[in-house]
Amino acid sequence: MEFPDGNEYTKARWELGKALFYDPILSKSGKTSCSSCHKTEFAFADNAALSLGDENQEGTSNSPTLTNIGYNPYFTRAGGVPTLEMQVLVPIQEHNEFNNNIVFIADTLKKIPFYEKAAQYAYKRDPDAFVITRALANFERTLISGNSEYDKFIQGKSEAKFGASEVRGMQLFMSDKTNCSSCHSGFNFSNYNFENNGLYEQYNESGRFRLTQNQEDIGKFKVPTLRNIAFTAPYMHDGSLGTLEDVVEHYNSGGKNQINKSSFLKPLNLSNQEKADLVAFLRSLSDLEFINKKDFKK
Ligand code: HEC
Ligand code: HEC
Repeated sequence: MEFPDGNEYTKARWELGKALFYDPILSKSGKTSCSSCHKTEFAFADNAALSLGDENQEGTSNSPTLTNIGYNPYFTRAGGVPTLEMQVLVPIQEHNEFNNNIVFIADTLKKIPFYEKAAQYAYKRDPDAFVITRALANFERTLISGNSEYDKFIQGKSEAKFGASEVRGMQLFMSDKTNCSSCHSGFNFSNYNFENNGLYEQYNESGRFRLTQNQEDIGKFKVPTLRNIAFTAPYMHDGSLGTLEDVVEHYNSGGKNQINKSSFLKPLNLSNQEKADLVAFLRSLSDLEFINKKDFKK
C-alpha cells in the first residue's frame, strides 16, 4: 500500500485514526461512529440496505465495504472524491450521516487530553481538520485483505478450501459467457470504471449523473470490489438485492432495458448448477482472517 507524502504510515497515526474511527464523538448527537455503518464483522460494510444516520435519518445508499479501500483511485460510488483524506469530510458533514462540522469536532477534541496528546505525538499539531482527516485515512489504508480461499488456491496452497464447484464458478466468472471479469477484474475484482449494470429501467439514485449531469452517466456506479462479498449483503448501491443468489439471478436475466446498460450484459441462460457454482466462487472470496483481525477491532 502506498501512503501519500505527509501521511506516511506510523503506529501513532494509525492508533489515532483507529480511535477516531470507533469514536461517536465525531457525530452531532455523540451516538454514531464510522463503525456504526462500517462494521468489522461485515467487512466494514453494513447489513442494513440503507444505514441510519445520526438521528435515525435513512441514508440514500448502502454502506460499502472498506476492504482494500486504499487501492481505490477515487471514492464514493459516483466518484466525486479524489482522496481518502478528503472522503472523511463526507460523512462528517452529510446531514444523513454525522450531521456535524469538522471545525466544531476539532474544538471538542482539543479539550480531550487523550486526543490532544495523540495528535501532537502523531502529527506534531493540535487535533485539527488536518489531523482528523489524515489519521482516519492512515487507519483505513491498512484495511487490506488478500487471504481468502481463492487466494490460497491461486497461490497453490494445499489447505485452500476450493473444490470443484468453486473451480467451475471461477472459470465461468472469467469467461466470455458471463463477462463478469470484464468489469470485476484485477486483484480487487474491479476495473474502477463507472458502469450501468441494468438494475433498473428508471433509476431513483442516478449515480455518476448526479456529478456530471451527463445523460450517459445515468445509473452508472463505480464497479465495486467483490472481495469479502459474502459478508456485505444486501447488495448494489441501494441494497435492493438481498442475497448472492439474487445477484446471480439479476445477471442471468441480462438486466433491465436501460439505455446506458453496458453491452457486457446479456441474458446468460445459466443452469442451476452454473448459478450455484458462481455463488460458490463468490463465497470463496471471503477472508476470515480479515474480519476477525484483533488489530482492526475496537
Ligand atoms: C450513517 C452511515 C455512515 C457513517 C456514519 C459513515 N459512513 Fe462511510 N459511507 C456510507 C455510505 C452510505 C457510503 C457510500 C456513499 C456513496 O457512495 O455515495 C460511504 C462511503 C464511504 C467511503 C467510500 C467508499 C468507496 O468505495 O468509495 C469511505 C472511505 C467511507 N465511507 C469511510 C467512512 C469513515 C472514515 C467514516 C467516519 C468518519 C464513515 N465512513 C462514516 C455510510 C456511512
Ligand atoms: C458492465 C460491468 C459489469 C459486469 C459485466 C458485471 N458487473 Fe457486477 N457490478 C457492476 C456494477 C457497476 C455494480 C454496482 C451496481 C450498483 O451499485 O448499483 C456491480 C455489483 C455487483 C455485485 C454487488 C456488489 C456490492 O457490493 O453490492 C456483485 C456480487 C456482482 N456485481 C457480481 C457480478 C457477477 C457475478 C457478474 C457476472 C455474472 C457481474 N457482476 C458482472 C458492474 C458489472
